[in-house]
Amino acid sequence: MDRRDLREQNRVSWNAVVGAHESHRGDLSRFFSDGGSTLFREERDLLGELEGRSLVHLQCNSGGDSISLARLGATVTGVDASDEAVSSARALAGETGIRAAFERADVYDWLERASHEGRRFDVAFASYGVICWLPDLRRWAGGIAGILNPGGRFVLVDFHPAADIFDRDGNHVHDYPSGGETALLEEGVGDYVAASGGGLTPAGFVEGVRDFQNPEGCYLFRWGLGEVVTALAGAGLRITALEEYPYANGEKKFAGMRGLPDGRMVLPKQIPKVPLMYGICAERD
Ligand SMILES: C[S@@+](CC[C@H](N)C(=O)[O-])C[C@H]1O[C@@H](n2cnc3c(N)ncnc32)[C@H](O)[C@@H]1O
Repeated sequence: MDRRDLREQNRVSWNAVVGAHESHRGDLSRFFSDGGSTLFREERDLLGELEGRSLVHLQCNSGGDSISLARLGATVTGVDASDEAVSSARALAGETGIRAAFERADVYDWLERASHEGRRFDVAFASYGVICWLPDLRRWAGGIAGILNPGGRFVLVDFHPAADIFDRDGNHVHDYPSGGETALLEEGVGDYVAASGGGLTPAGFVEGVRDFQNPEGCYLFRWGLGEVVTALAGAGLRITALEEYPYANGEKKFAGMRGLPDGRMVLPKQIPKVPLMYGICAERD
């Protein structure tokens, strides 16, 4: 399903929120100059050695992770639909002097165009809140397979759909996600950077914009984990890892979650564990 109209509305909603997110992030250019990285251990482990590799970072948002990946020796191209996110990413790369290229494009359009132009990458990467913006997983997975070099790999780390069946207080209120069911979020993309309680601001939390209200709604697409894996396998990629984690990096989805010093958010001790994140590595033969 194309849903270009909904993807376009999502771009508008993302554009509206980026300023609020950026207002909390502290001095990221100094953080990078001091050798900092915004990556978490899970994606580092799945990505493996990056020195000398070409890497496309899909849905890269404001580029902190893209710059961290470039730091590890990859030649990085970041792609995102949001004009505001891409202009923040370019500004950050300019300030840090770390080389990373950023292209503003819808992910489906970009994958199709890059494949036709014969562009190929050793690694494709996407993380933390990316699957929910995709109305068509088969087309997405096929697009990724089409831009990987032989032997290239795709790494995805995202929030686990099992966590989506609960409300903030842990009541079981939603069906398990499936079929890319469309959900309108009238309140639009929120200020999750402020809500992360420091988990997404490694350079230090700044008060910045308060009580942000997004005037632009957005549309989410609800997929199960099996559908993500099946789409990648169906595109001819070999699944070499599927990890599930009982914590969420940088996201306090449920009341009472605690942040650990490494940015992991864990459930209160008395609550039985459920997976809150997953990671996939899929390779092209
Ligand atoms: C939650 S962010 C991903 C977080 C990101 N990995 C980071 O390092 O901060 C989701 C991103 O997906 C982008 N996005 C949403 N729909 C898109 C689409 N159809 N094409 C390209 N980017 C899209 C948004 O603009 C946003 O920057």
